[in-house]
Amino acid sequence: MSTQIGIHDVAMATAHYVLELEDLAQRLGVDPDKYRLGLGQDAMSIPAPDEDAVTLGAAAAAQIIARHGVGGIRTVLFASESGVDQSKAGGVFIQGLLGLPRGVRVVELKQACYGGTAALQAAVGLVARNPEERVLVIASDVARYDVDTPAEPTQGAGAVALLVSADPAIAVVEEAYGVATMDVDDFWRPNDRSTPLVAGALSVSAYLDSAIAAWDDYAAHGGVSAEQIDRWVHHQPYTKMARKAHRALGEHLGMELPEGPLEDTFTYNRRIGNTYTASAWIGLISLLHHDSTLAGSRVGVFSYGSGSVGELLTLAVQEGYREALDPVAARAALEERQKLDFDTYRRVYASAVQGSADQRTERSGAQPYRLAEVKDGARRYEKA
Ligand code: CAA
Repeated sequence: MSTQIGIHDVAMATAHYVLELEDLAQRLGVDPDKYRLGLGQDAMSIPAPDEDAVTLGAAAAAQIIARHGVGGIRTVLFASESGVDQSKAGGVFIQGLLGLPRGVRVVELKQACYGGTAALQAAVGLVARNPEERVLVIASDVARYDVDTPAEPTQGAGAVALLVSADPAIAVVEEAYGVATMDVDDFWRPNDRSTPLVAGALSVSAYLDSAIAAWDDYAAHGGVSAEQIDRWVHHQPYTKMARKAHRALGEHLGMELPEGPLEDTFTYNRRIGNTYTASAWIGLISLLHHDSTLAGSRVGVFSYGSGSVGELLTLAVQEGYREALDPVAARAALEERQKLDFDTYRRVYASAVQGSADQRTERSGAQPYRLAEVKDGARRYEKA
């Protein structure tokens, strides 16, 4: 029998501030139900100027290192589409901040929101080669859009860290997967921009096309039937999008896929917003934290990255998975955020650190790692 490889531990982090979408709707003169029901979102995490994809990723990864130490970790895969440098991998800053050994390879992966899933599959491959090794996967993003656009209420910020190992405590990544790559300009961020360009309606249809194409590829490459998948997690740029994908998949398969269980995958993302590479995996963490009946069941995960690459994979949830989880830390990360009013949100948004001009940041709060300054063009991070 081949070695069982998958997710041994998971952790998440989000930003220091939160804006209630009701407050945003009120100030923009929009019916709050458009956000609550139309998008399926209640709030969004907003990073302080001393937070970015590196500090959020470090905060998630530190929880894993605190529980398991660094033994066996020889690779750190950092996935992001809001990386802080065009050359240096964000994970290298994290190696320094967390005091990870020098004997690790670190690399950054990018393909929009899909990068975290690519990192997970690469990690599975590395562990298959040497089951003694463990791979630290970090998916971290700040989803920042232009203000006063339809995408503004779909911002967010957050990170996940996954420890990938043989004989995992939480879930085995099953062998069959389905992938689909289609060259489309639905959402992209040219090198001179800090916010993406979005063709909103096209992005929705491209996501749905990708979900169906990934399913067809999965079915053609040894995947199980949809009846054998007990729960589903879909990428959540906003939670209504996951609902749309679920319905489209059901229609494609000619069967009704129950929507009720999706709710458990939405609990965190409804209040965090989009986290790009982390989004589907925060959806999975939310499911694991809120559904205590998953042992022995199969979870289908659909990951979508604009541009576009989609992947459908399945996880076999392990007996005793609940004991490996830390829902208290996840809830604390959400509850301890500081609420912003609309005007302060717009001020914080405008003071995000951009570019390479030297500057120092103010300490925003109690998060474990922070961006202290940009000096001689280089970002300097510190333990808070
Ligand atoms: N009460 C209830 N619902 C309401 C309402 C009200 N008063 N007013 C409007 N709605 C509903 C609409 O009927 C619509 O529902 P359906 O989608 O079910 O038709 C929904 O609210 C959204 O309204 P609009 O269709 O008017 O859309 P919008 O102009 O507000 O833009 C958006 C929506 C295109 C998603 C925009 O938020 C956007 O550009 N977001 C960023 C791009 C994005 O997230 N795309 C998703 C796929 S791409 C991807 O997944 C990668 C990624 O992470 C970015």
